[in-house]
Amino acid sequence: MSSEKRGMHGIWASRWTFVLAAVGSAVGLGNIWKFPYITGEYGGGAFVLVYLLCIFSVGIPVMMAEVLLGRKARMSPINTMHQLTRTYKAPKFFAGIGWIGAVAGFFILSFYSVIAGWTVYYSLEMMTGHFVGIEAEQAGETFGALLSDPWVLMVFHSIFMILVGAVIARGVHRGLESSLRMLMPALFVMLLILLGYSLTLPGFAQGFDFLFHFEPEKLGTEAILVALGHSFFTLSLGMGAIMAYGAYMPADSPLGKTIVTVGVMDTLVALAAGLVIFPIVFSNGLEPGAGPGLMFQTLPIAFGSLPGGVFIGTIFFVLVLIAAWSSAISLAEPAVAWAVEKGFSRVRATVFVCLLAWVLGLGTVLSFNHWSDKQFFVSVTGSSESSEQVYEDFLLYADVAELKTDLGETGGLQYNVAGKTFFDVLDFLTTNIMLPLGGVLISLFVGWFMTRRAVADEARFRNPQLFRTWRFMIRVVSPLAVLFVFYQGLS
Ligand code: TRP
Repeated sequence: MSSEKRGMHGIWASRWTFVLAAVGSAVGLGNIWKFPYITGEYGGGAFVLVYLLCIFSVGIPVMMAEVLLGRKARMSPINTMHQLTRTYKAPKFFAGIGWIGAVAGFFILSFYSVIAGWTVYYSLEMMTGHFVGIEAEQAGETFGALLSDPWVLMVFHSIFMILVGAVIARGVHRGLESSLRMLMPALFVMLLILLGYSLTLPGFAQGFDFLFHFEPEKLGTEAILVALGHSFFTLSLGMGAIMAYGAYMPADSPLGKTIVTVGVMDTLVALAAGLVIFPIVFSNGLEPGAGPGLMFQTLPIAFGSLPGGVFIGTIFFVLVLIAAWSSAISLAEPAVAWAVEKGFSRVRATVFVCLLAWVLGLGTVLSFNHWSDKQFFVSVTGSSESSEQVYEDFLLYADVAELKTDLGETGGLQYNVAGKTFFDVLDFLTTNIMLPLGGVLISLFVGWFMTRRAVADEARFRNPQLFRTWRFMIRVVSPLAVLFVFYQGLS
């Protein structure tokens, strides 16, 4: 049986080590930074509900399929898909899953590292007591000052990328396994302490309500697309990261239970992060829709007034950093594993992958300052005083500042200009398009091209009814859900 074979990269010590690594990959900036800020932008409870639906009906089933593929072939995602496409005589383009995944991995790693760099910066600022007694306004200014300085951003982006490279170069399991065993539990304990703190805040009820109060009228098609995309992002799905980790999973581990554990842990961390951040937002009269800076503007305020805040705050940002670190490693692993299979040394492969992602990351660095007006997919709407919309235009690229000055001179209309920076484009393209697309292809492949027998042998479900349900989910439900959301998004 093919699952008994060992790949050239090694096997995790046990099923629990796989869980640790997969949770390490899944729990990251997506949970603590991104989930709260997109929830804020899309209005709270309604968004959270759709997100939960996506996780349980699409994300977790697809995750099982992705791990299954990796364990079946025990190679890098590129070679895994190459081999399995031939074995099961599937159309050749399925082999593209590995390639699209590697590209998506580079894109994500490039901006992920820049944001993770912010957590390095904030760890240091916390440690040195910069935030003691800080007010909401100053917290905002500190963050603004960081973003406006490309050199500082670049330095911290570089530090983070070096951290990532250092672990990958040594081989993921040896470097990672032992440290993750201590760090992941520490992360959970810290989150619990912060939850305890947020429970005592006057804004707790409001924060809780914001997260869990379902208002369907707030739900637009864009919010649904974002929720679906985020469920892929937060579970590390659709680009091969989890496939690569599956390739190192012991053959006798049951897929269902293991993956549900990973998915539930990831979801709990996201909800906990929301329950920490929103009460702080509301207690300090801040805006939940602040965007990417949400975490970096709210938490320092709380830590600044908390007894022992310097200590707890430092630990918190260090732990976010660790969460980001263990995730970033999984973003690079597919490309590195592939290069190793090609005959490169692990160190060379690492340097190459990290350097490429680093260079691309400079685009994200500049998105927050020099290039902030250089935007893509710019929509322009103009309305007259009676607020009737009389002008509409769409540009693939524009310098938004120039555009606004030009428009300012044309007759009495109010213009609204909205586009995406380089960072926004990478984020949108990967999270909302490439990951869901990769996920659909993975589901279709496992659902329709692998034999039922091969899938059953590899998945090792004890309960036949559960197996049938899962297979139906990946054959029908997840492809239709993604296609439907895409279709809605385009029209
Ligand atoms: N899941 C991680 C997070 O939530 C990010 C991540 C790691 C990821 N590996 C991935 C996202 C692979 C997509 C694909 O922060």
